[in-house]
Amino acid sequence: MSKEKCVLAYSGGLDTSALIPYMMEKYGYEIVTVLVDVGHMKDVEGLRQRALTAGAVESVVVDAKEEFVTGYAFEALKANALYENKYPLHSALSRPLIAKKMVETAHKYGAKTVAHGCTAKGNDQVRIDVSVRCLDPSVKVLGPAREWGMTRPELLDYLAARGINLPLTKKNPYSIDENLWGRAIECGELEDPWTAAPSDAFAFTTNPEDAPDEAVELVVGFSQGIPVSLDGQPMGPVELVEKIDSTAGATGFGRIDMVENRRVGIKSREVYEAAGPLSLIMAHSALEDLTLTRELQHYKYSVGQRMTELIYDGLWFSPLADCLRVFIDESQKHVSGDVRLRYYKGTCNVVGRRSPNSLYVDALATYGSGDTFSHQSAVGFIELWGLPVEVYARRHQGLM
Ligand code: ARG
Repeated sequence: MSKEKCVLAYSGGLDTSALIPYMMEKYGYEIVTVLVDVGHMKDVEGLRQRALTAGAVESVVVDAKEEFVTGYAFEALKANALYENKYPLHSALSRPLIAKKMVETAHKYGAKTVAHGCTAKGNDQVRIDVSVRCLDPSVKVLGPAREWGMTRPELLDYLAARGINLPLTKKNPYSIDENLWGRAIECGELEDPWTAAPSDAFAFTTNPEDAPDEAVELVVGFSQGIPVSLDGQPMGPVELVEKIDSTAGATGFGRIDMVENRRVGIKSREVYEAAGPLSLIMAHSALEDLTLTRELQHYKYSVGQRMTELIYDGLWFSPLADCLRVFIDESQKHVSGDVRLRYYKGTCNVVGRRSPNSLYVDALATYGSGDTFSHQSAVGFIELWGLPVEVYARRHQGLM
């Protein structure tokens, strides 16, 4: 009788590599690995082979870069999603997509179980677990790295003892998670929130001190809330995100250093690099300033905020997220136009915006000639606007 299969989400790193023999020995599974490429993966074929070396019966690679950007990152961009006003959610956005690929692979190979290498203290276990259960509640999710209690050096020894020697070192002090929407750096020295992040923690951005002395300008073009061009040149989603990320990162912009409230209840110190996502969110909201009515814009802040929390909390596939997405999409139908960004030594500012759908009307805004704003109406409007609070003041100051 053939063994039961388990689909393991594989990254090519130490933990998920060790999980292959561990799950074979401990649970008797045949392991099918699935590596989901959401960007910045080097030597995908080498990683695919590595899973086979570690004992997997099948090693599947899914190129999900475009799906990640258009179906996940740009959805978050439309919501201007920044968790705790700082973090653009690259890890949180990739997990539902990885979960989807895990479930699809499980269906393809007839597996009833999937597994991941997340630890017990992070948010990613929550997101993968909950997403899999939303997509197919009959699939069981395992996270053996939560229970095995092995340190990094022990894991290397564990693999070596089974004749599996992978080009992984005991030294790398950081835990890294990176994709097209950003890079997270955790652990090591960074665990002390008072210690400034050392320069070797960064890979996508230049030290602001070392950035060029001249400012750099970029024009981002949007169509219905989606970025479609850079400096007037139409560009596909993956290329556009890569281009703005590297251009902005080279100016020293895009580093985030924060203490974050995790879903599992702890505060953690997080360092991120996200020059492209931060630029795009800044540009996108500047275009909303120009094209949304005041009421819609203000209401959308709270919808975007709620959506951000759902993404962070692993509820991407929930009914509430589906409903908020409909609202957010509808809000974007006039969010088209261009935004000028200026970068200088670690800073980025919006310095111009224009749109065929602009609600900025010169004749209403101007303090110069050609003013059409009704100055007399202002007087009557303010009289009624202030009436309730004036009545209150009169009553309580003994004036009536
Ligand atoms: N704190 C971030 C989040 O919860 C980043 C997590 C990074 N993941 C990782 N496996 N290192 O979304």
